[in-house]
Amino acid sequence: MEKIIDEKKQGEALELEQVSTNTRKLFIESYGCAMNFSDSEIVASIMANQGFNTTQNLEEADLVLVNTCSIRDKAEQTVRKRLEKYNAVKRDHNPKMKVGVLGCMAERLKTKFLEEEKIVDLVVGPDAYKDLPNLLAEVDEGRDAINVILSKEETYGDITPVRLNSNGVTAFVSITRGCDNMCTFCVVPFTRGRERSRDPQSIIQEVNDLWQRGFRDITLLGQNVDSYLWYGGGLKKDFEKASDMQKATSVNFSKLLELCAKAQPKMRIRFSTSNPQDLTLDVVETMAKYDNICNHIHLPVQSGSNRILKAMNRLHTREEYFELIDNIRRIIPDCAISQDMIVGFPTETEEDFQDTVSLMEYVKYNFGYMFTYSERPGTMAGRNMEDDVPEAIKKRRLQDIVDLQRAHSEIKTKEWLHKTVEVLVEKESKKSNTQWSGRTPQNIVCVFPKGQYKIGDFVQVKITDCTSATLIGEAVDYSKA
Ligand code: SAH
Ligand code: F3S
Repeated sequence: MEKIIDEKKQGEALELEQVSTNTRKLFIESYGCAMNFSDSEIVASIMANQGFNTTQNLEEADLVLVNTCSIRDKAEQTVRKRLEKYNAVKRDHNPKMKVGVLGCMAERLKTKFLEEEKIVDLVVGPDAYKDLPNLLAEVDEGRDAINVILSKEETYGDITPVRLNSNGVTAFVSITRGCDNMCTFCVVPFTRGRERSRDPQSIIQEVNDLWQRGFRDITLLGQNVDSYLWYGGGLKKDFEKASDMQKATSVNFSKLLELCAKAQPKMRIRFSTSNPQDLTLDVVETMAKYDNICNHIHLPVQSGSNRILKAMNRLHTREEYFELIDNIRRIIPDCAISQDMIVGFPTETEEDFQDTVSLMEYVKYNFGYMFTYSERPGTMAGRNMEDDVPEAIKKRRLQDIVDLQRAHSEIKTKEWLHKTVEVLVEKESKKSNTQWSGRTPQNIVCVFPKGQYKIGDFVQVKITDCTSATLIGEAVDYSKA
């Protein structure tokens, strides 16, 4: 263990060395999905090379970058509020501060942002971060700057992210960008462009580097990870045009998972997100084959009604989803499964909603994220369907499934009582400074007394109690056995 700590310190020293001569201060914050948080680490790396160190203090920032989310209207409102806050800080404390908007709102609103929000100097879409140095030069000369060009190639595979707010144990590794699925409610294909995959060699290199630096749990990230396909670069949709050689040497998601699992056999490997229509059984079989691939699949279904699934352009039926769930549970009996669900999609009737409820009853997810439908301008549903489910009904349906999920989480969490699980220590428990908090491979949070353990340790914990979402236990000390 000592060796691991040393390696980690070395990693930190390298990072500090890289930025020790920097003079300008960057305040960067992220909203929305894990991909945004991961992208901000790429941006921080690009900006470090431009002489910027990150700061947590808005009042001393030379540059503020906010990585934004467009997935629901509420997410955009949150960002608008942050812009008001930057405005106040600039006015009262920090007149030299410049403000840039990154991510999905930048891509969706483009120049409108510069018109609508006077505070904004810089607008940069998700594929244009390498242009930040040029754009910043424009801003430094007093001009607004914008680049929202989407790319067929960009994966940022050549950039080593600067890990922000890191616990030193868990990290995201981005493997694909964009999404081709065109779910009718979803703005992502418009803001993040077409699907393309990152060179597996650069992924493995990043995984190896993370291990060397003390990281023990990584999540391979993509909007639709199971559709990962490397054939030498280029868009997923152009794979058919690739040469026979390219096709023969291509790497799909299950192969990539295997490469990662073998490259670092003790590193915990997770992935997110899976669309049921793209999750193939060879992925599940690869998970079963390697102990270090964590037994958890985030498998959003959005609705339990075949009619609504079709209107959402989700390319599977409820019955096919059940078959997939049954197969996962047959191949990996202790696999945790989680969901995303939308209630109140246009035309959703009470009967459709009851299909969602009965689907949840069948699967009994470990946990989930549930939303009311939010119409997004430009999407197929936004253009062609009236947002006709009244807000009060949406809210009631949401509450119903939130309650149901809580009950299911409790049942699923209780299944671990009296068992011994492997927990990777990530941080101090929020509730007690004498307890560690970590996660099991199934992604369930577990707290236990600190004892002699430290952050980054894998600990066998006997579960003695639980709440609906958290396991409570005690470390099993085999040395006393
Ligand atoms: N594949 C993505 C999913 C993107 S959005 C990923 O990697 O996470 C995350 C979730 O937000 C979706 O699964 C869906 O449940 C929800 N969502 C997306 N668009 C929405 C909308 N217009 N209204 C409400 N919820 C939405
Ligand atoms: Fe959105 Fe569907 Fe892709 S939810 S990110 S279009 S898989």
